[in-house]
Amino acid sequence: VLRGIFVTGTDTGVGKTVAAAALMHRYRTRAPGAESSRLMRYWKPIQTGIGQDDDTATVRELGACREEELFTDGIRLPHPVSPHLAARLKGVTILLPAVAELVSAQPESDRWIVEGAGGVLAPINDSEFMVDLMARLRLPALVVARTTLGTINHTLLTLEALGLRSVRVAGVLLVGDPNAENRAAIEAYGRVPVVGELPRLAPLTPGALERCVTSSLDRDGRLAELFR
Ligand SMILES: Nc1ncnc2c1ncn2[C@@H]1O[C@H](COP(=O)(O)OP(=O)(O)O)[C@@H](O)[C@H]1O
Ligand SMILES: [Mg+2]
Repeated sequence: VLRGIFVTGTDTGVGKTVAAAALMHRYRTRAPGAESSRLMRYWKPIQTGIGQDDDTATVRELGACREEELFTDGIRLPHPVSPHLAARLKGVTILLPAVAELVSAQPESDRWIVEGAGGVLAPINDSEFMVDLMARLRLPALVVARTTLGTINHTLLTLEALGLRSVRVAGVLLVGDPNAENRAAIEAYGRVPVVGELPRLAPLTPGALERCVTSSLDRDGRLAELFR
């Protein structure tokens, strides 16, 4: 089984990829060439719209990743639509055992940041959803959510779907201008820790992201525990 977290979100475009890059900055410890310590790996198992959207390439750049930190195998589909439809349009079926098999031979010392496609109930095939991939990989979920109006509902719905599948929740990461009331409501009603508040960065650069992660991400070390 993999160790690490599965980055999911309340929606597509909510900031999962940027959050994954931020996590790489925050938790990578291995110095180039130091083979003995654990290695942080980013993996996008299912990418649709590969012609225009390539989250692995974005994380490579924004997270200032070395090639060994990126696991590049996965389902890659051309149509920029939900995985179930992108697969159908390509004439293939996404099977979760086959997706999980891709990482089965990777070193046990690796620590994983896996990014989903869309939110928890994005369909993958006729009967399964992104949340089923999380359950199969047995990774706790980090829920990336907006700070703005509507986020309480979207975040609680997401937490409920994760709970129904018994996927552990590592925490919620909020993206955007801080909103203390929304944060407090998510923690109280969702009974989950908000583990970070990532500001909107303009411009969004690898350096700016690296500079803000220590102050805005996982101050009490809950996520760090999952990467130990
Ligand atoms: N903290 C941030 N600061 C500035 N821009 C951001 C931030 N988070 C996300 N974005 C922008 O919002 C868009 C969607 O973010 P992305 O991480 O790709 O979302 P997702 O992976 O959930 O689809 C991208 O254009 C990204 O650059
Ligand atoms: Mg993404």
